[in-house]
Amino acid sequence: MPNIPRDTGLDSTCAFLRDPYRFISARSQFHQSPVFQTRLMLQKTLCLTGAKAARLICDPDRFVRQNAAPKRLQKTLFGQGGVQGLDGDAHRHRKALFMGVLTAGSVQKLAELSEVRWREYAQTWRPGESIVLYDIAREILCRTVCEWAGTPLAERDVQQWTQDLAALYEHAGAIGLQHWQARRARRRLEQWAAELIEPTRAALPTPEQSPLERIAHYKDQQGQPLDLHTASVELLNLLRPTVAVSVFITFAALALHKHPGCLKNLQSGNENYVRCFVQEVRRFYPFFPAVSARVREDFLWEGYAFGKDTLVLLDLYGTNHDSRLWEDADDFKPERFRSDFPSLYCFIPQGPGDPHVNHRCPGEGVAVALMSVAARFLARSLQYEIPEQDLSITWDRMPALPRSHFVMRNVQITT
Ligand code: HEM
Repeated sequence: MPNIPRDTGLDSTCAFLRDPYRFISARSQFHQSPVFQTRLMLQKTLCLTGAKAARLICDPDRFVRQNAAPKRLQKTLFGQGGVQGLDGDAHRHRKALFMGVLTAGSVQKLAELSEVRWREYAQTWRPGESIVLYDIAREILCRTVCEWAGTPLAERDVQQWTQDLAALYEHAGAIGLQHWQARRARRRLEQWAAELIEPTRAALPTPEQSPLERIAHYKDQQGQPLDLHTASVELLNLLRPTVAVSVFITFAALALHKHPGCLKNLQSGNENYVRCFVQEVRRFYPFFPAVSARVREDFLWEGYAFGKDTLVLLDLYGTNHDSRLWEDADDFKPERFRSDFPSLYCFIPQGPGDPHVNHRCPGEGVAVALMSVAARFLARSLQYEIPEQDLSITWDRMPALPRSHFVMRNVQITT
């Protein structure tokens, strides 16, 4: 039986943090293997890349998610007790809650609300003024998702809640002060969510069944409502990632700036092109570098031995850029999505597999819909200038962003 290739050195955490998106694919190439062993945060970790590996990690007989995410992410990004750490029937049952809330009709409503907000904001931008797209998009999405979810947001709280929801994903991987800011933000948000869920439980559900009501009245496999803390975590599992779509919207604006041909195609009104463009933004630009799981029981894969409880990381960014799966993988080419609907294991910006069964993100429809609204709006309804600024990508941050957060000047609404 061959040994799994190993990184030399005591621990590779610093190297990972310096370049989290390319860490796995670069070393996998170096070892000439889709799997290699390293140490991250002093823990033995198997790193995997590619479509075969993505299929493997979706096998619930071989992997579990309980205790797979680092504690620091549980205390910030995910929260404790949420769907991300569940396995088997408990996972499937809880996941059905998300799939039931995020139906096509409900996503459509969310997208329409976001368009209204973009138009309202654009009316307030004056000639000569500069706006920072990422900051604006975060706020628009915070207002939109709160309205959609049925979680009322007082005007005076908009900035604070936007910052708090964003802190959960912006500072999740940070060390020091920012990490503690994200923890404090989570405590505030969970308290706020609990204060909304409690009275909602006491009231009769409305016929529309807002996402807040769905979560408040959800019953687990034993027919019991979620405890208040877990219900709050799940409500934030809708709000936080919706605000995070602002990262992809900022990358969409960057792509339009860098590829004027794409801008022209979007302006032509071709709706299939909007879909292709948005998918290529999700493939091409970085967001989450990897997802984690733990080996359930010892097994062999491709001749390699995987030991029970070992931590495993699957490379999302590298798989989306794998030249065995994607022609001209490092070129931005929306046309690649024209006729192709790539497999559930090749195109994995939001995780691999079937979202009903595996841990794949239930919010892909939301991301695509909100990005499509924003891309159409930027390309067809606005005129703007892009002043000189540093648009280089912060590859050592998670999530990465254009360093300037994309400044636009003299933004005018035209239609
Ligand atoms: C910025 C866009 C988004 C990105 C990059 C993203 C990425 C991801 C990733 C990588 C996972 C983990 C997949 C895995 O473990 O295999 C995930 C899971 C999840 N996402 Fe998203 N997501 C986004 C938007 C959303 C939205 C808009 C929602 C809800 C409205 C959402 C809700 C969730 C939930 C609840 C899970 C846990 C699923 C489970 O454990 O079964 N995400 N997402």
